[in-house]
Amino acid sequence: MTDSTLEFSLGAYHTVVSFSEEFPSIPLTDSVLIVEDTNSAELFPYPETHRMIIPSGEEGKSWTSIERILSRALERGLDRRSLFIGIGGGVVCDVTAFAASIYMRGARLHLVPTTLLAMVDAAFGGKTGINFQGWKNMVGTFYPAERIWIHPKVLGTLPERELRSGMAEVIKSAMLKDEELFSLLETVGKSGGSLKDLSLGLYEKMIRHSLLVKAYYVTQDLREQELRTHLNLGHTFAHGLESATHFKQFTHGEAVAWGLYRAMDAGLSLGLTDPAYAKRVRTLLSRFAYAEHVSGVKPEAIFQAMQQDKKKRGVLRFVIQRNLGDTLLSTLDPAIVKQVIERGIKS
Ligand SMILES: NC(=O)c1ccc[n+]([C@@H]2O[C@H](COP(=O)([O-])OP(=O)(O)OC[C@H]3O[C@@H](n4cnc5c(N)ncnc54)[C@H](O)[C@@H]3O)[C@@H](O)[C@H]2O)c1
Repeated sequence: MTDSTLEFSLGAYHTVVSFSEEFPSIPLTDSVLIVEDTNSAELFPYPETHRMIIPSGEEGKSWTSIERILSRALERGLDRRSLFIGIGGGVVCDVTAFAASIYMRGARLHLVPTTLLAMVDAAFGGKTGINFQGWKNMVGTFYPAERIWIHPKVLGTLPERELRSGMAEVIKSAMLKDEELFSLLETVGKSGGSLKDLSLGLYEKMIRHSLLVKAYYVTQDLREQELRTHLNLGHTFAHGLESATHFKQFTHGEAVAWGLYRAMDAGLSLGLTDPAYAKRVRTLLSRFAYAEHVSGVKPEAIFQAMQQDKKKRGVLRFVIQRNLGDTLLSTLDPAIVKQVIERGIKS
């Protein structure tokens, strides 16, 4: 792998994504605050003086974490020109970015995503946030990082399940806009085997392609007025499943993969999705062993969770595809939503 960069304008912001052979060198100056979670802190140790550690997992996405980060920044005398650096998965990226965005009305921000999901999705695009009163990502800001460091070698310590979680977002990106990536995934999926055995070169390629797809949406619609919503392909059903199971039973990617099967079902029910494309998507998802039918959760609980989501966030619009790269937004009759959910539950 050779060091290289991608550059994007996101509204008034500019993000440089650097792919690097070596782990980025972190400047340990007086104006830097590193944020890690308990796991990334063990993998990438920095002096306690310069870092703040938050709990790993969704528990870390809390006001308590934000307050602790801001207090530490203040204690250390940081100002608006100071640099917050988040090193970790999507949780660390979301929390660090939120803290940086509100510290003195906006400090500098670099992110070093260390999970596949954070590399292809969470670190890039400017959404920051924490969970609030049981609602995921209910409080946050749009605040793109000025630099994102991608060092695929760090994926070496990531458990298989977390790699598969990120891979679901790679598949989603391919479905939205990238035939070449989709074909590559079909080949990778066909060979079976562990995701831990894929080469770093292949990961780099998949990450780069996924970022370019995401960039297509976020550079045109940073604040998700309309076009960016397409990135939620599979996510409306996924959020229902995640919240009905209290964010404990499935990783985000597993839920997204289930949501992608459901998006195909919904599109077929509406007579919009090309059946040959739906079959191609299902085959791809099954090659990566994502469950089309889940158990241990009642369809009604998922439907209710989606209704709650609707109450909080407004009209539920589903992302439907006619074909690869041909995407639209549609409301769905509740009877169809129920049927689609029921078809995704193991009887
Ligand atoms: N802002 C956005 O646009 C956006 C997009 C997608 C997801 N997200 C958010 O991202 C979060 C999910 O991100 P995630 O899947 O990275 O979860 P995560 O941050 O919880 O990381 C998953 C697990 O892997 C550990 N980990 C991190 N790097 C590791 C490494 N290199 N080796 C071994 N273990 C490592 C973490 O400590 C954690 O236990 C969710 O909160 C979601 O809301 C945000």
